[in-house]
Amino acid sequence: MDKLVIRGGQKLKGEVTISGSKNSVLPILAATLLTDEKCVIRDVPALRDTNTMFRILRSLGKTVELEKGVVTVSGSKECGWVADYKLVSTMRASFCVLGPLLGKLKKAQVSLPGGCVIGVRPVDLHIKGVKALGAHIDVEGGYVIAHAKRLKGAHIYLGGEYGSSVLATGNVMMAAVCAEGKTILESAACEPEVADLGDFLIKMGARIKGHGTPIIEIEGVKKLHGVAHTIIPDRIEAGTFMVASLITDGDITIKNVNPRHLGALLDKLKEAGAVISESAMSMRVVRKKQLRPVNITTLPYPGFPTDMQAQIMALMTVTPGISVITEKIYPDRFMHVAELNRMGAHIQREGPHAIVEGVRYLSGAPVMASDLRASACLVLAGLVAKGTTTISRIYHLERGYENIDTKLQSLGAKIWREKE
Ligand code: UD1
Repeated sequence: MDKLVIRGGQKLKGEVTISGSKNSVLPILAATLLTDEKCVIRDVPALRDTNTMFRILRSLGKTVELEKGVVTVSGSKECGWVADYKLVSTMRASFCVLGPLLGKLKKAQVSLPGGCVIGVRPVDLHIKGVKALGAHIDVEGGYVIAHAKRLKGAHIYLGGEYGSSVLATGNVMMAAVCAEGKTILESAACEPEVADLGDFLIKMGARIKGHGTPIIEIEGVKKLHGVAHTIIPDRIEAGTFMVASLITDGDITIKNVNPRHLGALLDKLKEAGAVISESAMSMRVVRKKQLRPVNITTLPYPGFPTDMQAQIMALMTVTPGISVITEKIYPDRFMHVAELNRMGAHIQREGPHAIVEGVRYLSGAPVMASDLRASACLVLAGLVAKGTTTISRIYHLERGYENIDTKLQSLGAKIWREKE
């Protein structure tokens, strides 16, 4: 297993191109189960998670070919319907094969994903949605077993205790496109990745209106067909490089980014002292001399993304003053706090809040990545820390960031891999 070694203190400068969105491509790959025809998907990032989804599709009888970011999924008339525990347990997003399998085959057996380090993460909203469409659900041996004689459109309220759910919205959409009649999803997730999935399904022949808003209307169709589609840029990867520019007092131009997907983040970064110049699908990020602390509350889109909470916390650790970061999506998503404190940060956790008191400098230390975005936060901290930081368990990082080490190297970072 590899670890990352970072020698901090370099100001990052230059251009970086953002990859296709991980959170967009995973449900879109699952949606290919809705047709036997060929689907061609472009800008697919080379990630551990996309690889896991390829393995799931292959286990269900699909042929998946990958060449330079272009994935072709084809076949099969004899589609399987069992998504195995070994694969689903390694990646929660695999649970989104439930909707398309139910939609196409009217049966599915999908392992429950289980907990993960950022919290309990239930799937009750997914189940509520497909049940409302007429599916019968049993839970046996750790699997959700779903079947239906037919699926029938319904009016479904999909809001939960923590707001809307991204993957539940996708899952239910993918089942509803094949249901008889009209489905209305209320309190649907509005994330750009849900909108991208809606666009993909429409190209396949689905009839959907309102995707990207809290009310989605779906008119069921009998059959879906093959499609070609390009994945939207990854807004979280883009946000991570913006913070990399600010934390190192650098000058990074980020290419293949959609500023319209980043409203809440841009607002907070500007409040903190970022100077951002935008042109079509590109942004240059520099900072004013001194950064200012900002308070952040994570919320469903278009609010501040929970997937940027750890990275903005890294920035606040070296910003003079006090900032309060409140996590409203995953109240336990604070695994990075202890590791940042090991690097000299002053962060106190109080329930869903982290109170960050900026310090003059962080010092490099051996730290451990606990989840995907926490790993990105430690990389950012390592880039600005005095001395050397080593980050172990970087397989978390490989789940969601394509070539992050080489991208950072090209901007001047001293970062490399070593065997653990
Ligand atoms: C997706 C993203 C993940 C991001 C998260 C929140 C993908 C592959 N992953 O995850 O990167 O951090 O959105 O923006 O797109 N919940 C329930 N019941 C459910 C489902 C969710 O209570 O059935 C809760 C969750 O525990 C959480 C909140 O709803 O508190 C939002 O979770 P959700 O949007 O479902 O996250 P994911 O779709 O799994």
